Amino acid sequence: MHKTSGSRTVRIVLAASVALGGMLWSTVGSLSSATAGAPPGAPPSTIPGAIEYTPEGKQKRPPFWEFRKWIFVGTPVTPNDMNDGKANFPEFHNVYMDPESFAYYQKNGKYRDGTVIVKELVSVGTKEAASGEGYFQGEFIGLEVSVKDSKLFPKDPGNWGFFSYGHSYPLKDVSKPNKIDECNKCHETNAVDFVFSQYYPVLRAANPMSMKK
Ligand code: HEC
Repeated sequence: MHKTSGSRTVRIVLAASVALGGMLWSTVGSLSSATAGAPPGAPPSTIPGAIEYTPEGKQKRPPFWEFRKWIFVGTPVTPNDMNDGKANFPEFHNVYMDPESFAYYQKNGKYRDGTVIVKELVSVGTKEAASGEGYFQGEFIGLEVSVKDSKLFPKDPGNWGFFSYGHSYPLKDVSKPNKIDECNKCHETNAVDFVFSQYYPVLRAANPMSMKK
């Protein structure tokens, strides 16, 4: 009796792993096509399926449900009503980092080549909740991306490229790299290694040594 049910279990497990193997293979297959569209000579994207470029070097907007599943590092908020009604990056900034680069950062305290950081802008919704008065997140309103890539941005300080998809919906589908003065300069001058890690508690906790630069 036991023997029979045991071998049945084995058969089921085998069938399941064959099915799983098949699924994995098809995933690998679809991931490997993700770098199609990258500029000639561009390194394969380290985040397959998430970051792609047009042949002219414009970045395609990363899919929302790719980066929203990445490592969430923090949420600065520069509300319009504390900035004369016109904050440069309105309201909440939910910041995500791709998981492989996060693992590298945790270990080494550095942003590796290929790091992608996404900042999703969210409006202030209600200012009252059962917990008290404050700022509570409303609607998604915008998207900015920064990428460290020595092959794509050999001349940009720190090899960081900056992309902007707009501050109101509908967002742009593609973004050309921003000029160095528009974005990179301020990051180079004021941030720790081009990223404002000092405002992201998850990054501070992941590698406290990295704040000492
Ligand atoms: C005047 C300074 C300044 C300029 C100019 C600026 N930023 Fe930032 N940026 C910040 C600060 C400060 C933060 C972190 C705090 C926050 O979000 O308010 C930040 C955060 C970010 C982040 C999240 C990752 C990080 O580095 O902390 C991205 C992505 C980003 N900015 C993109 C851009 C883009 C794209 C532009 C140009 C269109 C730009 N920034 C221009 C100051 C600046």
